[in-house]
Amino acid sequence: MSTYEPDVRQLRKPDKHPTIFTAYAAPAVGESFVLANNHDPRHLGAEFDIDYPDSPDISGWEYLEQGPQAWRIRISKLSAVLKSPDTPKNLLRQEMMTGRQGGAQLPGADRSDDAAQGHWLLARLGKRVLRPGGVELTRTLLLRADVSRADVVELAPGLGRTAAEILPKGPRTYIGVEGDPDAADAVRRVVAGHGEVRVGDAADTGLPDASADVVIGEAMLTMQGDLAKHAIVSEVSRVLRPNGRYAIHELALTPDTIPEEISTDIRQALARAIKVNARPLTVAEWSQLLAGHGLVVDHVATVPMALLQPRRIIADEGVIGALRFARNLLVQRDARKRVLAMRATFRKHREQLAAVAIVATKPG
Ligand SMILES: C[S@@+](CC[C@H](N)C(=O)[O-])C[C@H]1O[C@@H](n2cnc3c(N)ncnc32)[C@H](O)[C@@H]1O
Repeated sequence: MSTYEPDVRQLRKPDKHPTIFTAYAAPAVGESFVLANNHDPRHLGAEFDIDYPDSPDISGWEYLEQGPQAWRIRISKLSAVLKSPDTPKNLLRQEMMTGRQGGAQLPGADRSDDAAQGHWLLARLGKRVLRPGGVELTRTLLLRADVSRADVVELAPGLGRTAAEILPKGPRTYIGVEGDPDAADAVRRVVAGHGEVRVGDAADTGLPDASADVVIGEAMLTMQGDLAKHAIVSEVSRVLRPNGRYAIHELALTPDTIPEEISTDIRQALARAIKVNARPLTVAEWSQLLAGHGLVVDHVATVPMALLQPRRIIADEGVIGALRFARNLLVQRDARKRVLAMRATFRKHREQLAAVAIVATKPG
């Protein structure tokens, strides 16, 4: 039996859960540790429930002392790995824990940490949410686009993080169209049996006219030049049925009146930092792009661009995913340099950068 007794009473609030989850990683299955805290950490039990769904009774949660000054809880490790791999979210969680994508190659593996595109570099470090507004803005987008019982096409699904949000909502069909073959493989593993993933160009999907109720694409138009942006939106407009919805989640420049020389500076700084020719538009320009292809903008939501802020990373990747990301950053020097440079660029321009989600409808 392990005698490890983490006392988190003196720690700052944000450090408590990471410390406890690190402690949980240490003992072998069947062992336990005793946690001391100055209040009842009941809500921590819920996090264990999410991350260790196969552990009955909140991973063996036994109160040894219940206040009023101190709470001591024996937490027993009932399982080592996440089981129930048959749901998309559990598959992703398992990948975050192990750092493996079902043993397969991650996209962008042919480039060194110095040269990798920012999103694949983050993926290499264990990040799975690769869009500027995080998973929260994705959820808003999915709610507005109403994917339940819909024929859904996802353009550029990346590693399948949004597919894992869409499938539990019960779409009639799901088709992903992804340009990168390794990424397409990753999405296939997530949708396994509940949809189809094609390797292809979002501007030329090969899908029939008027065959989709919802087309969604996140963090993929920003990286296209003007012509390609128009080609993709035109393709979406062709593929959508009347009353169908196009949902986008992209990087925006703010305010709409931002001077051209400042947007040019920011685009160049982003290109240097993330090694992608990022060309964000203002919210008004994104709306005009969609309207120019006959789509009617129904909903617009913006949130700060906080992709690499610690709080957002925890919200997007969960405590364990965030810890994994932090550990990988600590041990991978070149990757750390790149990520810090990306973060510095986002911070420097944070007043002019935002994440935008827009849902536009094809008129009936
Ligand atoms: C920044 S990642 C975003 C991935 C995912 N949508 C997300 O938000 O996590 C950009 C993705 O767009 C894909 N992509 C870029 N241009 C594309 C195109 N023309 N057709 C299909 N996929 C494309 C890339 O391969 C990559 O998976």
